[in-house]
Amino acid sequence: MGITIKTAADIAAMRVAGRLASEVLDMLTPHVKPGITTEQLDALAHRHIVEVQGAVPAPLNYQPPGYSPYPKSICTSVNHQVCHGIPNERPLKNGDIVNIDVTVIKDGWHGDTSRMYIVGEGSIAAKRLCSLTYEAMWKGIAKVRPGIKLGDIGHGIQTFVENAGYSVVREFCGHGIGQKFHEEPQILHYGRPGTLEELVPGMVFTIEPMVNAGRREIKELGDGWTIVTKDRSLSAQWEHTIVVTETGYEVLTLSAGSPPPPDFVQAGASA
Ligand code: MF3
Ligand code: CO
Ligand code: CO
Repeated sequence: MGITIKTAADIAAMRVAGRLASEVLDMLTPHVKPGITTEQLDALAHRHIVEVQGAVPAPLNYQPPGYSPYPKSICTSVNHQVCHGIPNERPLKNGDIVNIDVTVIKDGWHGDTSRMYIVGEGSIAAKRLCSLTYEAMWKGIAKVRPGIKLGDIGHGIQTFVENAGYSVVREFCGHGIGQKFHEEPQILHYGRPGTLEELVPGMVFTIEPMVNAGRREIKELGDGWTIVTKDRSLSAQWEHTIVVTETGYEVLTLSAGSPPPPDFVQAGASA
């Protein structure tokens, strides 16, 4: 299929889907407290997406080749879980970190975003990993403009993360997104400057680095979905859906509760 270039009308529709995905995270925020289960968070999200937003939770029954259908409406990845954690009946406890990843389909278009949550009081190490990973995502976003290459994004993220003493997961990456959940191209969160595809206006993709406090190696659990760090070190991830504009980028997955960009992101650098 190749990389699809979105029209202004496509982007307007994706802006809506992106905002809705982010608003699901806003809605969940006050509920992420010690004692709640990730299954309860999934139920809250499912109802909100279907009944309030009139949208569809993209993960539910999603089945890429070689996978079993994903059984829930959101992904919840706790502590050493890297991504694709399946909501379950275990209560979150004080000090846990959890990534909540929401993808909604509205009028046929996808919006995909995730944030880290610290349950109750987090350790200094947990807080540092979560904020470092947020900055890593923005190191990638801030590079986006026509004429740069995908390798520039990956390189910016990788050098920032590794200079801080953390590691970047290699096996999972960002992705083109639109009327399909996962489209071309792959957005690697590591790489060499000046390599891979050149960015052009109208490309839409996610940037979603997974950062481990320890080694970068991962393994898949027996449920066929959940990815964990091999060394059981903590892992964090943040995700936005981005469109390349004529002059830079626009983040499509923004809402009232989105955390502000880090200080190193120049005001006005975006569209
Ligand atoms: N939302 C994830 C991503 O960022 C994909 C989850 S696939 C699922 O690409 F089936 F686990 F939901
Ligand atoms: Co994604
Ligand atoms: Co996602």
